[in-house]
Amino acid sequence: MRSITEQFHEQYYDSGVWRNTFWLGVETLKCPLDLWIYQEIIFDLRPRYIIECGTAAGGSALYLASLCDLLGDGEVITIDVEERAGRPSHRRIKYLHGSSVDQEVVDEVKALIKDAGPVMVILDSDHRREHVLNELHIYSEIVTAESYLIVEDTNVNGHPVFQLHGAGPMEAVEQFLRETDDFVADREREKFFLTFNPKGYLRKLKR
Ligand SMILES: C[S@@+](CC[C@H](N)C(=O)[O-])C[C@H]1O[C@@H](n2cnc3c(N)ncnc32)[C@H](O)[C@@H]1O
Repeated sequence: MRSITEQFHEQYYDSGVWRNTFWLGVETLKCPLDLWIYQEIIFDLRPRYIIECGTAAGGSALYLASLCDLLGDGEVITIDVEERAGRPSHRRIKYLHGSSVDQEVVDEVKALIKDAGPVMVILDSDHRREHVLNELHIYSEIVTAESYLIVEDTNVNGHPVFQLHGAGPMEAVEQFLRETDDFVADREREKFFLTFNPKGYLRKLKR
């Protein structure tokens, strides 16, 4: 028997309304409850850099840049394999073109952030397990201690939605957490009951 939360999650996800969600007029493929959690994290953390893998229309990058504007600091580096016309221009957004796991792209990210911190990372590109695990291995080294490495869409492949997706972000997170003690899944960040990122708010521990 599915819980009421799971049933609502399924109804919400299957309606596709997350494709009909906008920040300042730009399509933003997110659940607003997760965007509110981003706001809480960013307020606490005050990241100097936010790296986003997977830009799409640029709505989430614009949302993050807007938060940085409100806080008076921070820059967004967003990466996508596809170039798209009409993405928002914003002085705090830097668009990179290429795969998030391509060495040249990773080197460019490292060159941009140098040793500045805090650095927060959001993985929202190719949602297949191998790709996400690859991103986790690369970006876990870039995210700074006490910051977040957020894995989007861990809800697919039956967690609890899109049963037929195949192994995806959740399976990558589970494998990654078996391999490392440096990160924990911060389940407090799931406090609004509905999140597209169950077990996906990974906090890097201070060592
Ligand atoms: C789910 S969408 C991103 C949604 C966006 N972050 C938002 O919230 O509006 C996924 C994006 O990842 C991009 N993508 C797919 N494979 C990628 C890769 N290997 N590296 C970087 N981006 C990739 C796709 O082109 C697509 O635009």
